[in-house]
Amino acid sequence: MTPSPLSSLAQRSLKTVWHPCTQMQHHDQGVPLLAIKRAQGAWLYDTDGHRYLDAISSWWVNLFGHSHPHLVKAITDQAQQLDHIMLCGLTHEPVVQLSEQLTALSNHHLGHAFYASDGASAVEIALKLSLHYWRNQGQEHKHRFVSIEQAYHGETLGALAVTDVPLFRENYGSQLSKQYTAASPDLRQAASAEEQTQITEKALQSLEQILDSHQDIAAVILEPLVQCAAGMKMHSPDYLRGVRALCDHYQVHLILDEIAVGCGRTGTFFACEQAGIWPDLLCLSKGITGGALPLSVVLSTSALYHGFYDPDLRRGFLHSHSYTGNPLACRAALASLQLFQQYPVYELQRKLGQQIDEGLQALALRSPKMQHLRRTGVIWAFDLDIGQPRYDHLSFARRFYRSALQYGLMLRPIGNTVYLMPGYLWTEAEAQHLLDGLGHLLKEYA
Ligand SMILES: Cc1ncc(COP(=O)(O)O)c(C=O)c1O
Repeated sequence: MTPSPLSSLAQRSLKTVWHPCTQMQHHDQGVPLLAIKRAQGAWLYDTDGHRYLDAISSWWVNLFGHSHPHLVKAITDQAQQLDHIMLCGLTHEPVVQLSEQLTALSNHHLGHAFYASDGASAVEIALKLSLHYWRNQGQEHKHRFVSIEQAYHGETLGALAVTDVPLFRENYGSQLSKQYTAASPDLRQAASAEEQTQITEKALQSLEQILDSHQDIAAVILEPLVQCAAGMKMHSPDYLRGVRALCDHYQVHLILDEIAVGCGRTGTFFACEQAGIWPDLLCLSKGITGGALPLSVVLSTSALYHGFYDPDLRRGFLHSHSYTGNPLACRAALASLQLFQQYPVYELQRKLGQQIDEGLQALALRSPKMQHLRRTGVIWAFDLDIGQPRYDHLSFARRFYRSALQYGLMLRPIGNTVYLMPGYLWTEAEAQHLLDGLGHLLKEYA
């Protein structure tokens, strides 16, 4: 079942394509580079005719399967009518409709939508909006941010400054502005409800201590419910309620980065709905177009928006990207929102969830190396006790990726954390394929 690690297309790719998040030399040392010819539903098909279940939704973007006909038709229709125009001085139906619908989904708490094309740009926009708002208020001393231990918010210099992943930061440290880091509310170590409460309270105390001792803070930024790139660390909605209260008390903005956890991934459209709170700024990307086209959006409260509404050009938010509000991407996002109406998405998620829960629990009973099995919505994760010094965590992830391909699975662990992010429309048979493959892998890595 394993493809030849380097098919001819992969070999051509390695000559001219510089792949993301990759030490290119590893592909010369046996890490496969799959050359994908097409993708349909939950499956990726390579140029040699093998198929792989996309168990991580292609970096968490693909909600309804690949090339869903409704999305394909919407994009094709839109391409025939209006492909692209700039959004400065011009507007169009898809961007207006999308903004109206996102506002409605936030129960009108977040009334204004600013667009870009990727997650990191959305984070940059949210950070800049917060800084500029305080400056417009005559409080330019508020210019730093607080993020959470092991936070991941993207890789541009501004987003990296609030990202706490040494591997991604260390080569660029001299260019990263100083920010504050609060304790993570990660519940993995909690063995009881009481310990969960203690971890949550300790994390809130850490944040309060920072807010209380520094007057220069503009905003707190965090991923609600699941710190995904940190290794799917999950926390309690109580933590989010506590953070909201602290931000109100200390008069700093709350920026929620829902780039990975938004668009239904946690079982509600916005993750923050589960805590009954709203942020001042909310970032969405990844799943917003159902995984079909690049788009990101920052939703803002009216209060924040009105901090910029002024005759003076310089008090306006002058940020722009050439493709801001691209009509094709907005139309794909509208079609994706329609799919939330056409399918009983959360009911399907519950059924899929039950099957995967039962399957993983059975595997955990047989696999003592599986630790901290956890789930939020349609995100599952467990850590594998891989023992030292046989592998370091990073080489484990590459080996596991290669092994998973043998069982027709596309899985990419983060360190020693194996995680699953299935599509919302997966069939029972697809879920079973995943569980069977995991069963083999766990035996192999026992
Ligand atoms: C929470 C979070 N924020 C920001 C980003 C950056 O998004 P992008 O890769 O589209 O720049 C990611 C990407 O994984 C993410 O998970």
